[in-house]
Amino acid sequence: MGKENAIKIKFYSGENIPLELHKVRIVQKLNLVPIERRLEALKEGGFNTFGLKTTDIFLDMITDSGVNAMSDNQLAAMMRADDAYAGSQSFMRMQKAVEDVLGKKHLLPVHQGRAAENIISCAYIKKGSLVPMNYHFTTTLAHITQYGGRIVELLYDEAYKTTSTHPFKGNMNIEKLEAEIQREGVSNIPFIRMEASTNLIGGQPFSVQNLRDVRKIADKYGIRLVLDASLLGENAYLIIQREEEFKDATMAEVISEITGMADIVYFSARKLSSSRGGGICTNDVKIYREMEPLIPLFEGFLTYGGMSVREIEAIAVGLYETLDETMICQSPQFIEYLVNSAIEKGVPMVTPPGVLGAHVNAMEICKHLPQTQYPAGAFAAAYYLISGVRGMERGSLSNQRDEYGNETYADMELLRLAVPRRVFTLSQIKYVVDRLAWLNDNRELIGGLKFVYEPPVLRFFMGRLEPVSDWTEKLIAKFKADFGDSL
Ligand code: F0G
Repeated sequence: MGKENAIKIKFYSGENIPLELHKVRIVQKLNLVPIERRLEALKEGGFNTFGLKTTDIFLDMITDSGVNAMSDNQLAAMMRADDAYAGSQSFMRMQKAVEDVLGKKHLLPVHQGRAAENIISCAYIKKGSLVPMNYHFTTTLAHITQYGGRIVELLYDEAYKTTSTHPFKGNMNIEKLEAEIQREGVSNIPFIRMEASTNLIGGQPFSVQNLRDVRKIADKYGIRLVLDASLLGENAYLIIQREEEFKDATMAEVISEITGMADIVYFSARKLSSSRGGGICTNDVKIYREMEPLIPLFEGFLTYGGMSVREIEAIAVGLYETLDETMICQSPQFIEYLVNSAIEKGVPMVTPPGVLGAHVNAMEICKHLPQTQYPAGAFAAAYYLISGVRGMERGSLSNQRDEYGNETYADMELLRLAVPRRVFTLSQIKYVVDRLAWLNDNRELIGGLKFVYEPPVLRFFMGRLEPVSDWTEKLIAKFKADFGDSL
């Protein structure tokens, strides 16, 4: 995969438009239900976008997880899957793809990314352990704390600014990392975790140089380095775009540079390879042996790990496709288009545009709402109501309470509008921007939310809420006044 697959295509008109380098051959019909039905759907779903059903959703932008478009080659491979409890050839093909693409010889299969986090936490987290990381992901934090561990997030200050031109907001703060290790003591730190394309701060990458600096510290103190590679393809793509040293590098070169520095690499295949499942891989036999017994215990036998063989085949092909810049670039380019178009219309967005999705700064739009009323959750509900587009709250609702039961308010209150690979068209993205602009112009009509049911762990998945006032009715009235009988 050489650089000849250049991906910036210029238009004679001078317009900056991301051009799809694929054709659509299987399609799925969508529904755009009337706004009155959308309100009913919100009530049924507890004003939580996770509670909505796809029959009520027009564009599903809740996540890219497991919903990236699959390729013809992935679908074809799924047909030849080799079903066997043990020793399946499908697993051998996944193993080979992991070795070829991620450069790791020993593979432990798991049913998805958080299962990898469970296995790694079970193997290495003791009560009181501390895991330094660039930033947490919800499931990572939940598993580490489940085993009695703690985390410390070590980003540079720039990462917490919603608008920035910093190319690598996902970089680990090296000075703080070393200070933290000295303060805590090496024996209490089972591993350092780096997350590619740091999800919760807006899909922001780290640089290779930063990872080299982290590796140096890890070596100096003899601490393992764990890489969450779920969004590795996009992080590598942005490195080629933004890090001078790699501007002529291929995806394969950047990916092997990154994974070569990690002792353990784990991934959600739902993201990394446009499929399902996940894996943990390493070149260290000792590390492999430490986790090996946990796979049959929690996941399934060592050659399927809770996945179907069809998924395993799709991962094998999908991993190789991750090396194709023309494939990986599609979602980041659409996100860039979405973010820049929204900003032109005055909508506050997280910048620079990252990966996985566009992130709307709901804290800024809903300045009139206190964080106790979950501004990002309220904005997510309001946006679904007026557009039929389902996004995901990434703010205080997604945080868990501290050990004393107090709210831990998020640094950012964001609505994430995921742009799964090769799923949406450009006119759909234009619709997303149009409705965002309208809602931003009518932002004072958005009211807050309160919990009516709050589960103790990962509350954002199952929690149920309701509006604190009759603001949804007022928003519908304004929508009708402006759009008439348009859906
Ligand atoms: N790590 C990262 C960086 C993730 O983004 C995710 C999932 C996981 C681990 C867990 O993987 O879902 O396969 O168990 N992110 C999804 C999202 C859920 O919507 O961002 P999983």
